[in-house]
Amino acid sequence: MGALIGIDLDYAANLLEQGKLVAIPTETVYGLAANGLNTEAVSGIFAAKNRPTFDPLILHVGSVAQAKSLCIEWPEAAEKLATAFWPGPLTLVLPKANHIPDLVTADHPTVAVRMPNNAMSLALLQRLSFPLAAPSANPFGYVSPTNAQHVFDQLGERIDYILDGGPCAIGIESTIVSVDTHNRVTLLRLGGLDLEALSETIGHPLEESLSMHSNPQAPGQLDQHYSPGCAMIPFTNFPSNATHKEKNLAIGFLWFSENDRKQHAGPTIPIGAKNYVLSASGDDREAAMNLFGTLRQFDKDGCTQVYFTWAPEMGLGRAINDRLKRASANSTPH
Ligand code: TXA
Ligand code: MG
Repeated sequence: MGALIGIDLDYAANLLEQGKLVAIPTETVYGLAANGLNTEAVSGIFAAKNRPTFDPLILHVGSVAQAKSLCIEWPEAAEKLATAFWPGPLTLVLPKANHIPDLVTADHPTVAVRMPNNAMSLALLQRLSFPLAAPSANPFGYVSPTNAQHVFDQLGERIDYILDGGPCAIGIESTIVSVDTHNRVTLLRLGGLDLEALSETIGHPLEESLSMHSNPQAPGQLDQHYSPGCAMIPFTNFPSNATHKEKNLAIGFLWFSENDRKQHAGPTIPIGAKNYVLSASGDDREAAMNLFGTLRQFDKDGCTQVYFTWAPEMGLGRAINDRLKRASANSTPH
């Protein structure tokens, strides 16, 4: 038993119209979707994910007009950003319209909206008469899913249908910015949109509000988040002593590039350890696409400790490092 995986848009639309949950593909990560204007349907998302209700959801739309209908203001900067980057990996946080359930926005006066760049989900959104509330389709705190099987593995028993749009092209969640009535744009979460492109569009460097503390504006900012089951430890803490020469299947290494792997290959790396490279050539986009799937693989491999190298702090490298930082927030070397 468990969820069906398929490509039937009619079936998916029908379930959503009945207030049920459907996992949907996007270019960033898979989302767990429900009718975003129906409180009961939305509460099903929180239950399936074990998500605390202080963590607000993103509303996904099929058009800019639909996004506007969800906000009491649509500042010029929002228009500019939507025109430049939608459909795409950018979420806009704006003053919310009254008819949006408080559960969606966790009682905030703002709402997060985004038009995803995935043909299947756009077609679905365009046939529905409501926006889709959709957080990443993973249990709260765990790594986001980047293909249909990832969703099935963890939520397959809790939902009816998974719309299969193949692997996610970007592989890391959307970049989130707030836009206020004075057109001030503030970065709340690093993500799949390159920041250089963003600041070029608004004409100046972005203000950033990327707190690592609890009670954040965007709970994607919680210290520990996006965590696999294994302990994630920066490679700089790898204890290069003799005990690791023994066979050790429970240790893994996550190298950003082939260069990183070669540079550190040597007798101190335990025999039998799992080694994965995010991008052989060190390409930030390829690495982002592979990040979450590789973290899941370490869990499947039974690794309990994974040592990783950081990405260069440029392009999507900043977002990759942000996720690695959070995945490793509570891990200690042994
Ligand atoms: O790429 C994505 O953004 C994916 C796909 C499915 O669209 N979704 C996603 O959702 O990552 P989720 O729920 O895992 O993360 C959404 C983040 C949360 O940290 C949430 O707190 C923040 O968006 N957010 C939602 N509404 C907000 C608001 N009104 N103000 C500030 N942050 C908000
Ligand atoms: Mg999430």
